[in-house]
Amino acid sequence: MNTHQFNDRTVSVVVGGHTGIGRAVAQALAERPGRVEVVSRRNGLDLADERAIATYFERLGPIDHLVITAGSAAPGGKLGEVDIDAAKAAFDIKFWGTVTAAREAAKHLRSGGTITLTSGFLSRRATAGTYVKTAMNAALEAVAKVLAKELAPLRVNVVSPGLTDTEAYAAMSHEARHAMLESAATHLPARRHGRAKDVANGYLYAIDNPFMTGAIIDIDGGAQIG
Ligand SMILES: NC(=O)c1ccc[n+]([C@@H]2O[C@H](COP(=O)([O-])OP(=O)(O)OC[C@H]3O[C@@H](n4cnc5c(N)ncnc54)[C@H](OP(=O)(O)O)[C@@H]3O)[C@@H](O)[C@H]2O)c1
Repeated sequence: MNTHQFNDRTVSVVVGGHTGIGRAVAQALAERPGRVEVVSRRNGLDLADERAIATYFERLGPIDHLVITAGSAAPGGKLGEVDIDAAKAAFDIKFWGTVTAAREAAKHLRSGGTITLTSGFLSRRATAGTYVKTAMNAALEAVAKVLAKELAPLRVNVVSPGLTDTEAYAAMSHEARHAMLESAATHLPARRHGRAKDVANGYLYAIDNPFMTGAIIDIDGGAQIG
């Protein structure tokens, strides 16, 4: 593995790294040499703002690793129930925001650099009432493979989390959140729900493994097979 390639000049950026999975990635990277930049709306970077993304990366200068975990929100519901404007807004952030950030970061990525995106288990697990997340995550997985070719030898990978206990579910009641997590732990082959740290390990693996690009790393407790 390439952890030794981290040095005092290494710059890693985690978009969405203030909470949840992104925070766990940022914390793990912070234990290595170099600098970790954590950005999201709360410190001024909105993935819905194309110009702001370009300006951010221009000002930052050369970077080594980009991780994007931003944009967990998307409307649920079946075909006849989803508000298309809300679905488009979700796409604007998670899909187009990710693509824009990858494009702008790629201009500044140093040799040996990596981009690691985030999809989600619904990308390939057909589940009624989730088509917006399915479409967004499947689109990101497909695009990442194309980017891995276009940007080579920079490496581009995707981590696909399963149900993971994070701030993404903060709006739920304690009871509903607990029931959802318990149900996952009962039904998933791994017999547990995800913790942010479980999933964060996938990003580190993608960053460190010099032979890995165009890959989708499922860390979902077996959701694709369960
Ligand atoms: N948790 C799960 O069960 C699960 C399952 C499958 C896939 N995933 C995926 O994993 C990723 C991380 O999810 P998570 O559970 O860690 O969610 P989270 O805790 O809600 O984190 C998402 C982060 O995205 C940032 N964000 C939201 N909108 C943004 C915007 N417009 N511009 C910039 N940053 C924005 C938020 O910070 P600000 O509010 O400061 O902007 C937040 O810190 C997401 O892509 C999610 O879809 C999660």
